[in-house]
Amino acid sequence: MFQQLRALAPDSILGLMAKYRADPAPHKVDLGVGVYRDLAGNTPVLDSVRRAEREVLATQTTKAYVAPAGREEFNHAVEEMVLGALHPVRRDRRVRTVQAPGGCGALRVGAELMRAAAPATTVYVSDPTWGNHLPLLGSSGMRLERYPYYDARSHELRFDAMLERLEQASAGDAVLIHACCHNPSGADLGEAEWPLLLEVLERRRLVPYLDLAYQGFGQSLDADVEGIRLLAQHLPEALIAVSFSKNLGLYRERVGALIVVSESAERAEAVQSHVLQIARGIYSMPPDHGAAVAAYLFADPGLRSAWQSELDAMRARIRQMRALLTERLRATTGDDSFGFIRSQRGMFSLLGVSPAAVDRLRERQHIYMTPDSRMNLAGISPQNVDYVAEAVATERFA
Ligand code: LMR
Repeated sequence: MFQQLRALAPDSILGLMAKYRADPAPHKVDLGVGVYRDLAGNTPVLDSVRRAEREVLATQTTKAYVAPAGREEFNHAVEEMVLGALHPVRRDRRVRTVQAPGGCGALRVGAELMRAAAPATTVYVSDPTWGNHLPLLGSSGMRLERYPYYDARSHELRFDAMLERLEQASAGDAVLIHACCHNPSGADLGEAEWPLLLEVLERRRLVPYLDLAYQGFGQSLDADVEGIRLLAQHLPEALIAVSFSKNLGLYRERVGALIVVSESAERAEAVQSHVLQIARGIYSMPPDHGAAVAAYLFADPGLRSAWQSELDAMRARIRQMRALLTERLRATTGDDSFGFIRSQRGMFSLLGVSPAAVDRLRERQHIYMTPDSRMNLAGISPQNVDYVAEAVATERFA
């Protein structure tokens, strides 16, 4: 059966994690996989999460199945956090939320839903995008296309080119949009761009598929979802894949949700039945533990506000490291060619150097980033920033 199978190249992000772990150099720097790191370089369990987890474990009486949709109270809290309690789609019962195994599980279920509903749909994905978007969506059998989004050399959003490309899409096609903290570029749509994008989606009858993996890492929990709320308010249909890996630090627990907005309450009910059937056909039910912890935390005002403070602190630390690295790079390069890093959002920026320079940074300097020169700014600390700035200045053109 397996004689035809040849070993595949490792995934670019996960393969890099393995290379980093195997590197014995004591001064190695991990700017690869997108996990938050504190000043000591650790990815901690958040204190608020640990407290919620203790309560969940102390009060849990059974491990019996929950349901294919996961926990109702979790789904409810997620929907409120993403759309806001008073959003018109909630009032009109046009929205349904289903717990999923992480943001990846949500993205895949959403892709399967699109394929079940309209198999001829093309999904437009930003260029560049997160390395796993294409496998996750493409494995569902959906046709994928790219839209221009960001120029890593000039460090500019390619918004006009993006809209031009979307003008050519067919009615009913889907557009995958990073809701905030674009991965890998850190370049987000702003207040000026969202309404223009909405206008094109509405007129061309395109369906937004919003990927929300970093809520709270950009500006704030609410500001980071303004674009989502706007699109959901004005368009008949939308999909939103939510991940709590980063903002709750629950990476390995796989906590996520798929939110689907439909044109009517009746249609929303039908859509929900398909989502549940898809989930049943892939993994049957989502894992419970992380969602139970999240639901407990969201429902407890004290824990919720403690979590928000921790989230604010994570965001502030990354911002400080953006400013610090920008400043040190100015000193080591003698120019401001990396000034863009300061103002971008979320964990990532694209350094904008060649793949050969990325290889040299890894092989000679033991600094790890993905081949597209994506850096996780949470990997920067006051201890390693000078080393990184020197190394980049040395290797960027060498
Ligand atoms: C990343 O972009 O590095 C993270 O989202 C981790 C992953 O699964 O790729």
